[in-house]
Amino acid sequence: MKVFEIPGHQVIWGDVIDALETGIEDNSIHLIFADPPYNIGKIFNGKKEQWKGDDAYLDWCYQWLELCLRKLTTTGTLYLMSATQYMPHLDIYLQKRLTILSRIVWHYDSSGMQAKKYFGSLYEPILFAVKNPQNYTFNADEIRVEAKTGAVRKLIDYRKSEPAPYCTTKIPGNVWYIPRVRYKMPEYRKHPTQKPEALLERIIKASSNPGDVVLDLFAGTFTTAAVSQRLERKSISIEREYEYVEIGLNRLGITMNHPGLKPD
Ligand SMILES: C[S@@+](CC[C@H](N)C(=O)[O-])C[C@H]1O[C@@H](n2cnc3c(N)ncnc32)[C@H](O)[C@@H]1O
Repeated sequence: MKVFEIPGHQVIWGDVIDALETGIEDNSIHLIFADPPYNIGKIFNGKKEQWKGDDAYLDWCYQWLELCLRKLTTTGTLYLMSATQYMPHLDIYLQKRLTILSRIVWHYDSSGMQAKKYFGSLYEPILFAVKNPQNYTFNADEIRVEAKTGAVRKLIDYRKSEPAPYCTTKIPGNVWYIPRVRYKMPEYRKHPTQKPEALLERIIKASSNPGDVVLDLFAGTFTTAAVSQRLERKSISIEREYEYVEIGLNRLGITMNHPGLKPD
């Protein structure tokens, strides 16, 4: 395990369980974003995801999730992504340990290979869970979106004592249409499952405040760290593959000939 320190941001090159067990203080993290390998045969830096069956994969997920609970502050929040087929298991597991406030669908369109004999998958599920439902961060006004009906048609609500136009903005519902990152988009990095900055922006704005610590367990292209830096949050990112760590350091503004960055 090797740790790179950048003011306000820590990059941990190593295994997620090791890093959680030895590299991160208990009760120190305000927001955790977990976007693990989904066990659907993706290849990360030449290595194919390989668990011996569903139970082995889920046991591995339960191991790092259990550690996450210790790392969160008492007012902390967890966002968990997973493949659709595993989410029901993880949902039941988390229901016993946290309060799940939203089951979000990240929806996108696909222009690639289309399913021919079944309905192709155009979404990924995300759980939004908190430690204490009476006391957690939710910055509703930071993430408002256009309320299409009222705003476009300028409807008047006559049920109020003084008729007034319907609100033109609203807090997003639990279906989020956000396009996937495509080759040649400015944020694109070479990685098979990069998440869009817009997705992390909504999560980070809603569930943390400037100066809070955001932990990304499986950093990949370090979308979470890059957005945290832009939004003036601190970040800790864990990633097992050095090639992706390099992408992350670069996204955090570190040039690769910076002294002390190469692996020992
Ligand atoms: C689904 S991707 C994360 C993508 C990321 N959210 C982004 O926006 O780019 C999962 C990442 O976890 C990393 N990974 C897989 N197993 C790991 C482990 N045991 N410890 C740490 N990282 C791991 C992979 O190398 C991969 O980059």
